[in-house]
Amino acid sequence: MKTDQIVMGIETSCDETAVAILKNGREILSNVVASQIESHKRFGGVVPEIASRHHVEEITMVIEEAMNKANVTYDDIDAIAVTEGPGLVGALLIGVNAAKALSFAHGIPLVGVHHIAGHIYANRILTEFKFPLLSLVVSGGHTELVLMEEHGVFKVIGETRDDAAGEAYDKVARTLQLPYPGGPHIDRLAHEGTPSIKLPRAWLEEGSYDFSFSGLKSAVINTLHNAEQRGENIEPKDLAASFQESVIEVLVSKTMKAAVEFDVKQVLLAGGVAANKGLRRSLEESFASVKEVELIIPPLELCTDNAAMIAAVGSVMFEKGRKSDYSLNANPGLDIELS
Ligand code: KG4
Ligand code: ZN
Repeated sequence: MKTDQIVMGIETSCDETAVAILKNGREILSNVVASQIESHKRFGGVVPEIASRHHVEEITMVIEEAMNKANVTYDDIDAIAVTEGPGLVGALLIGVNAAKALSFAHGIPLVGVHHIAGHIYANRILTEFKFPLLSLVVSGGHTELVLMEEHGVFKVIGETRDDAAGEAYDKVARTLQLPYPGGPHIDRLAHEGTPSIKLPRAWLEEGSYDFSFSGLKSAVINTLHNAEQRGENIEPKDLAASFQESVIEVLVSKTMKAAVEFDVKQVLLAGGVAANKGLRRSLEESFASVKEVELIIPPLELCTDNAAMIAAVGSVMFEKGRKSDYSLNANPGLDIELS
């Protein structure tokens, strides 16, 4: 008798074509990611049409590779989870249609999932969730604090009012003429410099868990331009270090405050910016003294976009009885609280 639950995850919301096979919601049998970064680099950002075209070219091979690496057949798969949103509509459509085709051809249940729920569930591959928990989500498109009291139910207690953290990293990197995506380059430079340049911190009103990064981004750009006009020299590494310090201080401080207020058992870090070395270290240092809260930080390959995280949330949703029908469509503006 078959007792293990096997879920395939498919992720194509942005510039990675990814397919994974996950056993019992937590054990990775395969996790294949085909990155398109090289194709988008020369444009300084993701070009939606190019992303869609790459997904079409890659998806079949990536599915095959994930199946082979996991050593499973379609008879073994209990559900196919796919990112239905948010993301680029043309990119999402490729994954959604591939998932629908496989579901229809092999009679396997289909589960549409939210991309950010996936980033959060990347953490469950490491450790079983204990509720209530708080997740700091920091990606290229999102920056939010998400509270969970049970599996599959998400409450956003704070979010960015303008730029996402990753977006701010990428824009500042572009100003410093660093390649796309800029986050890892700023992170590397920041560790070589000192945070000697005064930059603002957007705390917003007392008690708010919202974020704002556009003022900080403008301050960095103004600092550079003013120095240029005065003929002064600013060390990019010091500017990177100062920018990174400002971002991290606000993220970590609001996360700590919310963790205490909501009396959570775990704090999870999620999203591409979770790969940031400075952020990881600062969270570890800050939560070291808060013994009642367990801090979970995924390994780098589970921070950036992947499909193991999509299978991880799909596994839980499927257990809860979630099943999508063939009207499932790409939804670029999907709300995590309604997902
Ligand atoms: O989650 P993700 O892979 O894609 C989205 O769903 O948006 O996040 C990508 C973002 C990019 O903005 C990238 O610059 C940023 O994550 N990122 C980093 C680092 N690694 C990736 N930002 C800061 N430090 C890093 N080490
Ligand atoms: Zn992502």
